[in-house]
Amino acid sequence: MQRRSFLRLVGGGIILAVNPWSAHAQVNPAAPWQLAPSIQGDVRRQALAYAILAPNPHNRQPWMVDLRTPETVLLFCDPTRLLPQTDPFSRQIMIGLGAFIESFVIAASQSGRSVETTLFPDGFSETGIDGRPVAMMRLARTVPADPLFRHILSRRSTKAPYDMARVIPAGDLAAIIASPRSNLHAIRIETDPQAMTAIRGFMTRAGEIEVTTPRTWEESVNLMRIGQAEIAANPDGISIGGPMIETLLASGRINRTMMADTSSPAFRAGTERYTASIGATPAAIWYATDGNTRVDQIEAGRAWMRIALTAVEKGLCLHPMSQVLQEFPEMSKELAAFHAHVDVKAPARVQMLARIGYGPGVGPTPRWPLETRITAS
Ligand SMILES: Cc1cc2nc3c(=O)[nH]c(=O)nc-3n(C[C@H](O)[C@H](O)[C@H](O)COP(=O)(O)O)c2cc1C
Repeated sequence: MQRRSFLRLVGGGIILAVNPWSAHAQVNPAAPWQLAPSIQGDVRRQALAYAILAPNPHNRQPWMVDLRTPETVLLFCDPTRLLPQTDPFSRQIMIGLGAFIESFVIAASQSGRSVETTLFPDGFSETGIDGRPVAMMRLARTVPADPLFRHILSRRSTKAPYDMARVIPAGDLAAIIASPRSNLHAIRIETDPQAMTAIRGFMTRAGEIEVTTPRTWEESVNLMRIGQAEIAANPDGISIGGPMIETLLASGRINRTMMADTSSPAFRAGTERYTASIGATPAAIWYATDGNTRVDQIEAGRAWMRIALTAVEKGLCLHPMSQVLQEFPEMSKELAAFHAHVDVKAPARVQMLARIGYGPGVGPTPRWPLETRITAS
């Protein structure tokens, strides 16, 4: 792994320099990214090694798979990996599972196999998560490899400031908009400077609401992994690491209590970085589905995976900005105002809003090894 300093957005909005991998880590949190190409044998395991690299909210990695039926993957949502405060109906968690499914399908095509996917084979709950499977994915006939496969290992959520001067070619915008397979209600990439001022305003206000609502900020703080040892012990959530963090940790100038305190210097430094990233947002992508059923949410996640891989192909970075789309009561006014602003009327629902532009190269986020996500085989 090339040693690179990179930036990571922390929860509702702190960015710190991060470089959590060193020869001394107990577990290498980046190992799943390095190992994916070397998995041999069972096509399901080969494809799953890529699927666990899918983008997902707060890097909760909510997927669990049962491999007992040959040629079949039964996908479940891990009920211990939800975000009850910021994602009370698990809408974003479902989007992450949709991204996982699309990654699996793309990766299986690299082994020449198509995938027959049955969503919620035993039904589902619209508001909660129960023990029923999210999807049954069965390997089927041969298909040509999906060209998006080659971008899976280099995809990132890039939370750093973007180049405000570089114009995105119209052809690249069109390719990204055309990349989802599902029929979306609406999809748009906003590049107009005046319109972007309004969208950055939504991002700023929504970020402030999330961090100043004690229980939603606490949810993020509890998911912070501060320093190499915590990241290696729990390669998920919001990783805050790197040499600077190790120094701050050693001298007692950073800990979870300080991060929770919105008047602390550590918190303020983070919000300044967050504000800088929003300020350096030349364009935004958003899309809506016709409704907001569990199937819509999964389809939104499948769409996000294809959008993200197409963005890599075009040399572009993406950074989801979900705050204004969240359902906790304190956000409801901004959520409604954003829908009115982009003229999306219920039952249609905006599922993703993200920054898009040219940004720096960053390293991969941690992942749990595949074996820890397999419940039975
Ligand atoms: C549905 C969804 C919502 C997300 N919302 C945010 C967000 O509001 N802020 C943010 O910084 N990242 C957000 N992300 C990005 C995740 O933090 C990121 O995917 C995760 O940390 C894994 O990192 P990676 O995408 O670089 O592999 C979101 C991702 C998904 C799929």
